[in-house]
Amino acid sequence: MSPHPAHPDEPVNVALVGAGPGDPGLMTVRGLALLRRADVVVYDRLVDPRLLDEARPDAIRVFVGKASGAHTLPQREINALLVRHAGRGRRVVRLKGGDPFVFGRGGEEAEALAAAGIPFEVVPGVSSAVAVPAYAGIPVTHRGTASSFAVVTGHEDEAKGEASVDWARLATAVDTLVVLMGTRSLPQIARALLDAGRRPDTPVALVRWGTTDAQETVVGRLDEIATLPAAVRLAPPVVIVIGDVVALRERLAWFGGAAGVGEAAAESPRAPSLAAR
Ligand SMILES: C[S@@+](CC[C@H](N)C(=O)[O-])C[C@H]1O[C@@H](n2cnc3c(N)ncnc32)[C@H](O)[C@@H]1O
Repeated sequence: MSPHPAHPDEPVNVALVGAGPGDPGLMTVRGLALLRRADVVVYDRLVDPRLLDEARPDAIRVFVGKASGAHTLPQREINALLVRHAGRGRRVVRLKGGDPFVFGRGGEEAEALAAAGIPFEVVPGVSSAVAVPAYAGIPVTHRGTASSFAVVTGHEDEAKGEASVDWARLATAVDTLVVLMGTRSLPQIARALLDAGRRPDTPVALVRWGTTDAQETVVGRLDEIATLPAAVRLAPPVVIVIGDVVALRERLAWFGGAAGVGEAAAESPRAPSLAAR
């Protein structure tokens, strides 16, 4: 395949590359090409290890993964790392789960590179916000059911200066709510949505490790989901989908078996390998 016409193969010092949500087959062609020729790969926790095998054997691999609540490297040090390697003339791929600009702090890294005068490009990735619901058989919009969706963080940290989410306004303004990083705050989120008028029987799906062999889904009503034992035990990474589209899963769950309401279903491993794609 010839290089993307919008990206002639000129050397770009840093590429902020979306690795997709888990299944390595969801990496973009452009991202893979850059990864294969990178001198340095700086990667996160949610990046599938099979993708790292695509880098040159002699490429420097730097893990800067962030598990929830336990940051391996502060963001400013990640920024400095990118600037330092690029300043030494190395082709750097900053490989991030999903899309770099969807709750990925890619914007901050781009700002740091721009401030340092380092050329960079952004390779968007398949975001978990849409791909994880899709692998659970949930279209985030559906004719006659949902004509809008919002992607929201459930992890608000005032200390970090993040803007707070107005759950009360979102409750009835948007048909489908997709919440990332929301497992811990699920009880508060559900309460806020119910208080603001969202129907108690609105279906909710929690999808853990979506698009991977370990994908697991729990479904329940908005007014009960936070108390279901199967939901309570789900640890991140989880995408929460709130809205009537969740019910479509009964017919559209194509990746493993469908979970019953309020039950977790360990879904069969069907994530194809990169080589198979
Ligand atoms: C820091 S955000 C990064 C989102 C990423 N940039 C994207 O576009 O998908 C991390 C959160 O994304 C969600 N997430 C990412 N990959 C996931 C997966 N395979 N299954 C379920 N949730 C996932 C979870 O909510 C997780 O806590």
